[in-house]
Amino acid sequence: MAEKSKILIIGGTGYIGKFVVRASAEAGHPTFALVRETAPSHPQKAQLLDSFKNSGVTLLKGDLSDHESLLEAIKQVDVVISTVGSDQVPDQVKIIAAIKEAGNIKRFVPSEFGNDADRNHAVEPAKSLFAAKSQIRRTLEAQGIPFTIVCSNLFAGYFVPTLGQPDASVPPRDKVVILGDGYARAVFVKEEDIGAYTLKAVDDPRTLNKILYIKPPGNIYSINELVLLWENKIGKTLQRIYVAEEQILKNIQASPLALGVFLAVTHSVFVKGDQTNFEIEPSFGVEASELYPDVKYTNVALYLNQFV
Ligand SMILES: NC(=O)c1ccc[n+]([C@@H]2O[C@H](COP(=O)([O-])OP(=O)(O)OC[C@H]3O[C@@H](n4cnc5c(N)ncnc54)[C@H](OP(=O)(O)O)[C@@H]3O)[C@@H](O)[C@H]2O)c1
Repeated sequence: MAEKSKILIIGGTGYIGKFVVRASAEAGHPTFALVRETAPSHPQKAQLLDSFKNSGVTLLKGDLSDHESLLEAIKQVDVVISTVGSDQVPDQVKIIAAIKEAGNIKRFVPSEFGNDADRNHAVEPAKSLFAAKSQIRRTLEAQGIPFTIVCSNLFAGYFVPTLGQPDASVPPRDKVVILGDGYARAVFVKEEDIGAYTLKAVDDPRTLNKILYIKPPGNIYSINELVLLWENKIGKTLQRIYVAEEQILKNIQASPLALGVFLAVTHSVFVKGDQTNFEIEPSFGVEASELYPDVKYTNVALYLNQFV
């Protein structure tokens, strides 16, 4: 059997990064995580790092701003996966420079893990975030670095328990706010499944220089359909409050940056339908659940059961 490729995750202590680190270790890859000096001083992150070590993950000290640390880490592996946060997306040019210099990397997965940055109708401030992700794609293409882009669509943990409500932590039981007419379909993917599909893709020639869309058929729902599914589970009808697009755009403009980004992403997904309004052409993309039917993903109906 071919040896498993060695994987470096940059951003492994982040929200989605930890699932990618775990998936890599579980898939039997020699797994390395680049960890910032400050991380162990946060109790939760220290615990996470202990769990990584217990799973056999090698922790390497480093930072995007420390070129030597990047280079040293990259030289030890075959594949680099970046899961750095939205604010660090432009700084990934530093990872690209180190990959170019090291010359040994077979695949780079930049931090995207959301909508397709090149195919969406996002308004500001989300528009700039997607533009920064697109810019990283263009840099990879120009530099000839082998890549796979992972468009994982929505993190289920953020959006299913809330039915897309910005200020909720559990699904509503009385009334639900619905953006637009609620008919645009979105894709909700459990974080463990995002990790599993990403790790399947990194050694696969079919995903080389392609976009991997994680779009399992059991996870594609409009908000209207999701609300109906929830209502059937709890045996109750919710009051629906629809927000017109014009009002949503005003709310985005009036919000502080972080909330504005969240609202602009939800506008792109739930009003414009940017996760489902285009065909995946073989020239640029492949769909994960078709490529990897052996991954037993969690569908949304099952996922919702935990909140009943
Ligand atoms: N699809 C969705 O629903 C969705 C939702 C949210 C985000 N996203 C996308 O998912 C991707 C990851 O976002 P996230 O929210 O998971 O990230 P996050 O939780 O903010 O984690 C950021 C990670 O980057 C690390 N980092 C920050 N600055 C660094 C530096 N200078 N050098 C090295 N590492 C650094 C952090 O390390 P420390 O732990 O040391 O701070 C942490 O591990 C982004 O592209 C984001 O746009 C998608």
